Amino acid sequence: MPDDIDGFKAVILSGSPMSVRSDQAFHINLDSIRGKKPLLGVCYGAQYLAHFHGGEVGASSTREYGRANLNYVHPDEPFFKGINKGSQVWMSHSDTIKKLPTGGTLLASTNDVENAAYKIEGEKTYAIQFHPEVYHSTDGKLLLQNFLIDIAEVKPDWTPNAFVEETVAHLKEQIGDDKVVLGLSGGVDSSVAAMLLHKAIGNNLYCIFVNNGLLRKNEFSQVLHQYEGMGLNVKGVDASARFMEALAGESDPEKKRKAIGRVFIEVFDDEATSIKDVTYLAQGTIYPDVIESVSATGGPSATIKSHHNVGGLPDFMKLKVVEPLKALFKDEVRRVGASMGMAPELLGRHPFPGPGLAIRILGDITPEKVAILQEVDAVFIENLKKWNLYDKVWQAGAILLPVNSVGVMGDERTYEKCVALRAVESTDGMTADWVNLPYEFLQATSNEIINKVKGVNRVVYDISSKPPATIEWE
Ligand code: XMP
Repeated sequence: MPDDIDGFKAVILSGSPMSVRSDQAFHINLDSIRGKKPLLGVCYGAQYLAHFHGGEVGASSTREYGRANLNYVHPDEPFFKGINKGSQVWMSHSDTIKKLPTGGTLLASTNDVENAAYKIEGEKTYAIQFHPEVYHSTDGKLLLQNFLIDIAEVKPDWTPNAFVEETVAHLKEQIGDDKVVLGLSGGVDSSVAAMLLHKAIGNNLYCIFVNNGLLRKNEFSQVLHQYEGMGLNVKGVDASARFMEALAGESDPEKKRKAIGRVFIEVFDDEATSIKDVTYLAQGTIYPDVIESVSATGGPSATIKSHHNVGGLPDFMKLKVVEPLKALFKDEVRRVGASMGMAPELLGRHPFPGPGLAIRILGDITPEKVAILQEVDAVFIENLKKWNLYDKVWQAGAILLPVNSVGVMGDERTYEKCVALRAVESTDGMTADWVNLPYEFLQATSNEIINKVKGVNRVVYDISSKPPATIEWE
């Protein structure tokens, strides 16, 4: 907590996996905030405000995860302007607010959570148990707007153009004539980061695009071409063999992730050190990467998966880090890219994880398994495009399961692999829901996969939301 919060327009206390009842609970002195600045507590924040200010928080009888609907909304409360009874909200908590804090007035409830929202009379202090920031809270954005614009009187003046202008100017000033190296992944984030830096420092930006052998079918050559077409100073490095070697025989998801992260850094370092006098390392880190990875460095959220693109800078690299997209969410990154005239196919690409197909091949990785999955994935993605579904889906991919099952092809018995298809809707990957793809599409895609891809005789569709599942299977 900074000492001087005079320049702050409002304060939002966020969620946390911690319980306010735990000895290790995070504490904040709210004396300089409460009643002086507009304050919104979300989930842990709402429980914190209740627990330490005259209310009561206890374990809920059922752990509350997923969708819920408001069954009561305070009739004339500016915070809930435009939000009605029935509105869907997303819950993710195991403690519940049993008694409101002193001065608290109930603003909204759901069937399972009576104290789903409240305010404290005489102050601009509000609290909600559900998560307004996730896609599945249908009116979450409106609620945040009501808080920020109407209650806190913050002006919504962020535009992609202004962001580009400010960021490019800042990068120019920060970097000057120094050289920057950046790892391109083929994804939206690193590509947009590269364009921003390219605008700021031109060919002093050295891009490296590593083929880890775990990319989609033909992706390496196609994307490399695209980058060259954008005028980027880019070098393609095929390191597939090094990655395969490091992964040989490894089935543990975290060890696979770590091995890929380690080899990536080794390969990248070899390339980066061959460029003389580099001062900076640029990364396409975006805000959700930061949140999901802070725990790796002792931060407040639990380690779900080790992302290899955050904080993975070894000491020996000794480069200063520049992360121009660190405060943005994916949808904002896309808008920034569009405002710089980047190709819609590049910006509209589904997110693809750094460890690539390795975390979609359950169990150990072999080049044969990668080849099978690349074929399956290609049929799935091509079909989504053919059926005009690609842009309606936030992310899609296929997963190769470590099970064989019996099938029959012609008159022959088969005993082959099973693949799962996954397609999710989301805005930032933090929460997601499976997409209700048409049966006809699933039928056609399953037929095509089984007919075309040797070694696969069964296709299933994943119908799990995040949470409690995650988007990737590992
Ligand atoms: P999960 O599986 O955690 O995925 O629900 C959320 C989003 O993050 C992507 N993902 C990664 N991206 N490096 C990345 O660059 C990684 O190690 C990584 N792991 C997951 C995933 O594809 C989804 O979009």
